[in-house]
Parts: sequence; C-alpha cells; structure tokens
Amino acid sequence: VADIKHGPDEGLGRVGQTLVVTGWVRTLRVQSSVTFIEVNDGSCLSNMQCVIDSDAEGYDQVEAGLITTGASIWVQGTLVPSQGSKQKVELKVKKIVVVGKSDPSYPIQKKRVSREFLRTKAHLRPRTNTFGAVARVRNALAFATHKFFQENGFVWVSSPIITASDCEGAGEQFCVTTLIPSSGEVVDSPVDAVPKTKDGLIDWSQDFFGKPAFLTVSGQLNAETYATALSDVYTFGPTFRAENSNTSRHLAEFWMIEPELAFADLNDDMACATAYLQYVVRYVLENCKEDMDFFNTWIEKGIVDRLNDVAEKEFVQLTYTDAIELLLRANKKFEFPVKWGCDLQSEHERYITEEAYGGCPVIIRDYPKEIKAFYMRQNDDGKTVAAMDMLVPRVGELIGGSQREERLEYLETRLDDLKLDKDTYWWYLDLRRYGSVPHAGFGLGFERLVQFATGIENIRDTIPFPRTPGSAEF
Ligand code: 4AD
Ligand code: MG
Repeated sequence: VADIKHGPDEGLGRVGQTLVVTGWVRTLRVQSSVTFIEVNDGSCLSNMQCVIDSDAEGYDQVEAGLITTGASIWVQGTLVPSQGSKQKVELKVKKIVVVGKSDPSYPIQKKRVSREFLRTKAHLRPRTNTFGAVARVRNALAFATHKFFQENGFVWVSSPIITASDCEGAGEQFCVTTLIPSSGEVVDSPVDAVPKTKDGLIDWSQDFFGKPAFLTVSGQLNAETYATALSDVYTFGPTFRAENSNTSRHLAEFWMIEPELAFADLNDDMACATAYLQYVVRYVLENCKEDMDFFNTWIEKGIVDRLNDVAEKEFVQLTYTDAIELLLRANKKFEFPVKWGCDLQSEHERYITEEAYGGCPVIIRDYPKEIKAFYMRQNDDGKTVAAMDMLVPRVGELIGGSQREERLEYLETRLDDLKLDKDTYWWYLDLRRYGSVPHAGFGLGFERLVQFATGIENIRDTIPFPRTPGSAEF
C-alpha cells in the first residue's frame, strides 16, 4: 500500500493496474449497492479503500458478515481514481477472500482507545495508527543510526548481554540464574537446581555455572576494548537496569547506542553526539513524512517544527557549575533544593531545556566527580570529571557520556577510593597498561530517542514489549 500511496501522484500513476492487497480490516461501510472496506497492511499509515459490489467473486462472504474489524483479507482488483476526498485512488474489487475471521470480541474497535488500555493488549496494539507509526519511526531511527556510524567509519561491535562487571558501579544489575544442575542429577523442578547456601537461600555468587553473572547495564567497557584496537566503534543492543522506578522515562530493559571514539576528547564526543542526533532527526523528517504528520496532529502539536530546529540550530553548551548558577538564579521553587554537588533532578533538567533555553537541546559538561561513574577522566581542578549529558525537552537526559580515564594511576586510585574491586576490572586496567590512548564515548537510550522524535509521552509506548517493575507479560 505504501508503494501506491507514496508513489507518483499518490497512486494515480498506477491507475488501471490489477493489484493484490493483503491486510487487516480497519472499518467497513455498507451503502445500498456498494460496500467500502478500509484495509491496512502496516506498510504505511494510509489504508487502501476497497470498493466491492455484488459482482465480485467472494461477495457472499461480505453478505455473510465475515468482513469485520480485525479480520485478515486478500483482495484483488483494479486501481481506479477515487470519488472520495480522502484519497486519490481506490481498489475496485474483483475477488475477495477472508483469510482469517475476527471474533466479535476484538478489543480494538474504531473508537479511540487509551494508551493505558492498549498496554494490556501489547499483542494487538501494533494494529493501531499510533503504534504502527511508532514502530515504523523506531525502525527508521535504527536504520539511520547504523547509516550514520557506518558512513563515518565506525565499526559495529556486539557487546555481551551476560557479564560479571558492573559498568556503572551502581549495583543496578539483574542476576543471571542457571536452571540446569551442574551435578547433572535429576531434579523435580529446575528451580531446585539453583545453587543454595547452607541456609537454603539462593547463592547468587555461584549462579552462572559456579560463577556470578549479571545482565549488562551498558556495553561501554567492552566497546572501549575494541576502540583501543579498531579506533571508532559503536554498540547497539539491549541493556538492563534493576532500578525500581515507575516513571515515564525508565524501563528495566532498553536499547542503548554506545559509540566509543579513540584518540578523542570530550569536545570530540560532544560534536559526535550533536552530529548524530541531527542526522537521525533529519532522516525521520525526510523519510517518515506521513507518520511524522500524524504525530504532529495527534500526539504533540508542533513537533515537526521543533525537530526541524533541532536539525538546524547549534545546541547550547554549559558547564555543570554554570547550570547550578542558572538554577540558583531561577525565580522558581524546586522540590529538590539546588546546590553545587547535587545530582540534577528531572525538574531541574526540564527547567534548563524547556524554560531557560526554550526547547533547545542542552549539553552540560564537567560534573562533580562524586556524582559520576569511576571511569570518567578527572579534570585538572581535581573536583570535576570530563563528563557530558545531553538534555532535551520533555524527555530530560537523552545522552550520557564522558572522556574516559586513560591514565592507569588515576584509574587505580579512583577504584580504590570507591572501594571497587580492582581484580574484577583487571582486563579494563590492561587497556591502560598496553598502548593507552585518550578516548571518549557516550550512551544514548534508544527509547528516549523514540520519545523525543515522536512526542510519545510514556516510554512504555516506544518499545514493542515494555519491561517495567512487575511487568514482563507477552
Ligand atoms: O547515563 P547512563 O547510565 O550512561 C551509561 O550507561 C554509560 N556507560 C554510557 C556510555 O558512556 N557509553 O545511560 C545512558 C543513557 C541515558 O542517558 C538514558 O538515555 C538511557 O541510557 N537510560 C535509560 N533509558 C531507559 N530506561 C532506563 N532505565 C535508562 N537508564 C539510562
Ligand atoms: Mg546518566
């Protein structure tokens, strides 16, 4: 359907051709002598209007009431100019086959249904306009991501999902459990095979074939190993966080894009993040026009203009210290009081991007080392690290990145200060022992990018099957 609707003259160039359309019935309108069926095949937002009368083969299925919302059908017909004002062309049906009937209990009828309700129907929600459009834009953003990095000479690296190291050092990891007994003995239930302590409690430290293992929170440390061999690399894969937060921008399972640049500093990192974001935004504006118009009308008014600005304008850059000054000067009462050294809360981020800088992305750099991860490079002031966060309106933190500490002595001291076990990071320290280079990178939460690009309010609606505390159905 997309080939026709988005083809020359919105399909008029193909009038007279015999075509087959397969898809799912959205609506049915019966008039005295003809019936109109709106079919959607998911290739685009537009439906194909199929016009059918009693001469068509298979018309008995229409009379028998088998063409209902949600049914799958196969139709063959001739493309003709449409009398209606909504489309240029329609299909005059010669033959129709109902492939799969739809039970009257089909939960997604024409009336607008709430996104909360649709979350309980994650298996059927891709058949709605909103979720179809989100899926196509998400796909375009993923494609544009690979295109951007490939065109700029980055090598895509697969980082592991199961790992023993905690990249962020924040202890927000899910534990991996082996359900196969290591002894090979037969057990009644696989759960019985989980290693236990003397007290009968699960022994997590033994759980991955006798070793501890977790789901990765970030592929950064692995990306660094490849950046110090292949120069510029990136990862793009699922990551996991066991944080018990029920907000509109946190998931327990999310996809992250993590470029790592060798022979690069924080300025190179910020330039890369800016060029990347502008590239993918431009890509969806140019390649997903129909879906973007839909978001502009129904989800967030003005989003297309706003994204056009993002693609064109320079981003604001300021230091953490300046950001704190800005917040202290703001004529505003924040729930979390502001002082140098505090972590920025979402209310602060919103103020900076939405009020102080009128909807523009803002990059904040040089954060206090106390609130950032162990691997960030210490600045000469001894108090801050070469970190950067990119904040965008509504979503808040879209990107978190830094220049990495490439000096062995500094890194070892930092691990000691934070009481992190140097032994588990032995291979990471090796990178500083053998041909260390200045390098920098960032992580972008892919679902937050989808939120930013579509205007969708809740992150649960940007990923096909959201994983949040207590929700892993489907
Ligand atoms: O700021 P974070 O924790 O940074 C890292 O993981 C670094 N190792 C990245 C790097 O330098 N390679 O996470 C990076 C981004 C955040 O800015 C945010 O967009 C996203 O990941 N993110 C989440 N997205 C959805 N749900 C969550 N629970 C997220 N936690 C982080
Ligand atoms: Mg962060």
